[in-house]
Amino acid sequence: MQTVRTSEELTAARAKLGDATVALVPTMGALHAGHMALIAEAKRRADKVVASVFVNPAQFNDAGDLARYPRTEAEDARMLKAQGCDLLWLPRAEDIYPQKFATTVHVAGVSERWEGAHRPGHFDGVATVVAKLLLSVKPDVALFGEKDFQQLAVIRRMVMDLNIAGEIVGVPTVRDADGLALSSRNALLSADERQRAAAFPAALEQARDAIRRGDPEGPAIDQAVNLLRNAGFSRVDYFVLVDAETLEPVAHPQGETRLIAAAVIGTTRLIDNLSV
Ligand code: PAJ
Repeated sequence: MQTVRTSEELTAARAKLGDATVALVPTMGALHAGHMALIAEAKRRADKVVASVFVNPAQFNDAGDLARYPRTEAEDARMLKAQGCDLLWLPRAEDIYPQKFATTVHVAGVSERWEGAHRPGHFDGVATVVAKLLLSVKPDVALFGEKDFQQLAVIRRMVMDLNIAGEIVGVPTVRDADGLALSSRNALLSADERQRAAAFPAALEQARDAIRRGDPEGPAIDQAVNLLRNAGFSRVDYFVLVDAETLEPVAHPQGETRLIAAAVIGTTRLIDNLSV
């Protein structure tokens, strides 16, 4: 696995891949089995796999959250190499945001509710950096986790709107044995919080099953939210049934719908979602 940092090094390494098909897996590091599933799927879909690790300051709306974000560069590189990644790009902030950087990609509509409402500027930061990563690497395919379901929808919309070449592929969420979605943020949970956090996927499953049975969506969600409160979650930012493409709320499951939720346990905010 080759590792590059500057834009010049990336351009040279990308050119060396020649006619091979290329997959890109953008990440912020602190890699776990969820990220590795993206690399594995990337290897199935392209000849060469490029991963980027960049903790993107522009998508953090809280300086404390950025400072706390886990950084494990050596371990990340070891895992990527073991998984068969061909090229690792570790840009520095100045490679992504040169002096006088003045451009923002804002995806209206799909980015505005839910995570967008609770984390002002977050999706502008995501869309801007992902546009830069895609335009820099020019992959045939780029892979993103369904774990961040609204992020995936925002990126799909952006790529369509801006005619950015390459296919966007969503990869199913990888979970721990108790159902909790793997996340770099899980490392911030105490042992007790980690145990109680299993109520989060359980609440989503309970609501999904009730809605699939034909129960009214309101009470089904209320019960799931109660389950979270009883498990010790201090805040539920949203727990809602949405259209899978537009992320607009839907009253009754029709077409492709998704239950999406965000909740806080201790000082850690978790997000998760399930297909209905
Ligand atoms: P990060 O949180 O590091 O996630 C990188 C990719 O891994 C994202 O596409 C995310 O959805 C996926 N992922 C995370 N946990 C997963 C899990 N349990 N199962 C499957 N996939 C999972 O998301 C970002 O970074 C950033 O916003 C980024 C897209 C890199 C832009 O900065």
